[in-house]
Amino acid sequence: MQIISIAAQKGGVGKTTTAINLAAGLQQKGKTVLLVDADPQGSMTAALGVNSETAINLFTELAKEIKGEDGNIEAATLTTASGLQLVPASADLAWAETELISVFGREQIFTWLLEKMTMQYDFVLFDCHPSVGMLTVNALVASNYILMPLQAEFLPHKAVNIFMQQITSIKKINKRLELLGILLTKYDDRKTMNKQVKMQMEQEFGNKLFTTTIRNNIQLAKAQEAGVDIFSFDKHSHGAEDYESLTDEFLKKL
Ligand SMILES: Nc1ncnc2c1ncn2[C@@H]1O[C@H](COP(=O)(O)OP(=O)(O)O)[C@@H](O)[C@H]1O
Ligand SMILES: [Mg+2]
Repeated sequence: MQIISIAAQKGGVGKTTTAINLAAGLQQKGKTVLLVDADPQGSMTAALGVNSETAINLFTELAKEIKGEDGNIEAATLTTASGLQLVPASADLAWAETELISVFGREQIFTWLLEKMTMQYDFVLFDCHPSVGMLTVNALVASNYILMPLQAEFLPHKAVNIFMQQITSIKKINKRLELLGILLTKYDDRKTMNKQVKMQMEQEFGNKLFTTTIRNNIQLAKAQEAGVDIFSFDKHSHGAEDYESLTDEFLKKL
């Protein structure tokens, strides 16, 4: 089971969109995937058409672990309208950010929850909140890899370098954690800035930069409004094409 955190220190860069559509792409290739919404804003839960107040969710299971009881991720897993396996978030999850600080083993609760699963998936994808708070730290500690979506705007490498420093601290707890790759999103090659930044990123990060870029494509936003992944929504869109290409590259990298 490979565990991947989709994380970046910025909002609006396509983390949630990437988690959903990479999961759907992998599932189309016959892989089993579990999506975990670790963002208290619950945007992935909403973008998959799921009510964020389900009786059992990531928060309820985390809260059990905090109380010394056994949380059960499998009990919290549901199947979305487009057939993805999801552990939904709820607004209460924000409470965990502060509450966890004083808990024994506070960085490892997600790790314990995943260890208890009897069902094995090929991939678990965590959709993370932009800040590196306790929930993101938990996701990173449970993960083998980080996939970092970024927009090709002014000086993104600065943001990457700051994030990489934080990853270095997390590696003290989780030695196997590695950056799988940086993914440029909302890309428009008619924009000089986008092209320049892509070239700079290639020079600086070499093969850590995915050769696939995700183009700016309104269908991706519309699919989220409809509560489904891009392949179910519009399989002929640029969004579907790009996320299929990302899926192939992702599988090759692992
Ligand atoms: N490639 C893209 N083209 C156009 N819109 C996109 C693209 N990727 C994401 N979006 C839209 O941009 C917004 C932010 O994306 P999201 O995935 O939620 O970012 P994050 O999770 O990093 O905050 C959403 O409304 C989403 O539908
Ligand atoms: Mg998000």
